[in-house]
Amino acid sequence: MKRAQDKGLLEVHVHDLRPWGLGKHQQLDDYQFGGGAGMVMMAEPLSNCIEHFQSERTYDEIIFMTPDGERLDQKICNQLSLKGNLLILCGHYKGIDERIRKLYITKEISIGDYVLSGGELGAAVLVDAIGRLLPGVLGDETSALFDSFQDNLLAPPVYTRPADFRGHKVPDILLSGNFKKIDEWRHEEALKRTQERRPDLLD
Ligand code: ADE
Repeated sequence: MKRAQDKGLLEVHVHDLRPWGLGKHQQLDDYQFGGGAGMVMMAEPLSNCIEHFQSERTYDEIIFMTPDGERLDQKICNQLSLKGNLLILCGHYKGIDERIRKLYITKEISIGDYVLSGGELGAAVLVDAIGRLLPGVLGDETSALFDSFQDNLLAPPVYTRPADFRGHKVPDILLSGNFKKIDEWRHEEALKRTQERRPDLLD
């Protein structure tokens, strides 16, 4: 991400919600109506904050990081990498007032079926996964195309020197110089690996 930012291909701005908090204590959360444990982030500070940033630029998506969102995968990352401005809201506590989700949020994303203490790590994962897809970010422009998941397959095994490591040899085919055969071998290995480890991807 640093390289992407240094090259001017990606801008990441991190904002603290606190300045939009209410009153002397800049309060951001409150007890939930109906009772129950856990505080809820209030609608007013969140809407003020979102509208402030909307007044500065137009957002293609306003994303809320939440464990009950759509599970992040490569397809979503690919789609988001084609967008311009993204606003990512990280929740804390028990969640955010439902009305904010209805009024402003265009996409809700979970990074997996586990609960984090806040959305920040999820947002960092999302920005990293999107950022590396932007043209020019990766050294070898084509390499993201061959990542695991790009064709719903895991990546095949890779090797570098030495050709013989403590008696464990690199498959002959990779040393053959026959690139058509090498491509075929890689595809077969990717299929095999996917069948063994993630058969769900092949469904
Ligand atoms: N916030 C808390 N848990 C999360 C998760 N699994 N994904 C995204 N944001 C979250």
